[in-house]
Amino acid sequence: MACTVIVGGFFGDEGKGKIVSHLALKDKPSIIARAGVGPNAGHTVEYHGKRYSLRLLPSGFVYDKARLLIGSGVAVNPKVILQEIELTESKSRFGLDYQCAIIEQKHIDQESQSEHLSKTVGSTKSGVGACNAARVMRTAKLARDVPELSPYLREVDVEVHTALEKGENVIIEGTQGTFLSLYHGTYPYSTSKDTTASAACADVGIGPTAVTDVVVIFKAYVTRVGSGPLVGELSSEETRERGWQEFGTVTGRERRAAPFNFDLARRAVHLNGATQIAITKLDVVFPASKAKKEFGSLSEPAKEFIANIEREVGVPVTLVGTGPAADDIIDRRIGA
Ligand code: IMP
Repeated sequence: MACTVIVGGFFGDEGKGKIVSHLALKDKPSIIARAGVGPNAGHTVEYHGKRYSLRLLPSGFVYDKARLLIGSGVAVNPKVILQEIELTESKSRFGLDYQCAIIEQKHIDQESQSEHLSKTVGSTKSGVGACNAARVMRTAKLARDVPELSPYLREVDVEVHTALEKGENVIIEGTQGTFLSLYHGTYPYSTSKDTTASAACADVGIGPTAVTDVVVIFKAYVTRVGSGPLVGELSSEETRERGWQEFGTVTGRERRAAPFNFDLARRAVHLNGATQIAITKLDVVFPASKAKKEFGSLSEPAKEFIANIEREVGVPVTLVGTGPAADDIIDRRIGA
């Protein structure tokens, strides 16, 4: 049995989609369960030459034998998920928990009308925060109240436990990033829920003892969209010169950027109980690493960058992303 939890280590946009899709294809889990806050700003997954931007469906959908589930802790926008099921042709293997809270138009309107969220926090205004607030007040609708979702309703915790009992692999996919956590992040410049690995477990209904591995994903540099502190922030010009300029997948907003932050990385490892680290976009910082598949073929400065992270943070870097394609990756896990 292996139950792997995957979470973002900085402020979201670490490239979780790519790492999850690699692990899904390689480890062949029977279930990929989406945990996290709700629809995110868009996980990008490239598969068979097509680029998918997913906000709710597990990014591991590329492994077509896995059941794709959404845990009860996740807020769901029915319109978004129904579109994504259609787009990825995953009707027959998709399920969401009866108890997922439902994001309604009024939640999106409420967030759009909030000056605090728009101007101070820099919210994505996807309605998740307002939906979570309604859930706390116990007035939110649940998935079981929405007829269009009825073909997909499942007891996700039961399905995950059954798979683990049978000795099958399960991947739990978190969203956003550690420092957007409502509890451990840079409040009030945070999202509306905890985003750490423990929260991901609660979202799908497993306890910490069920987890085999926690993979925390860091990009080779730090980016942040919206407001809030960003240590070492570069000017837009400097960001562009380094080739680190990025725009939000769904929102189109320009991301702020800073060099890799070891203090944040150490803290993220503690907060998540990480057993492994994945580094994405190494090729953006070290262009000679583009599309490399072996650690040994990296340049000396790129190798030293990875070794330094392991030294400073104390956890092995087992996965390294070296380009946008699904197989642009170095997998250093034992047996990989
Ligand atoms: P909200 O959760 O949409 O209200 O956004 C709160 C903060 O989290 C803002 O700074 C957003 O930019 C950030 N945020 C929310 N979702 C994402 C995401 O998927 N990627 C990156 N940042 C996000």
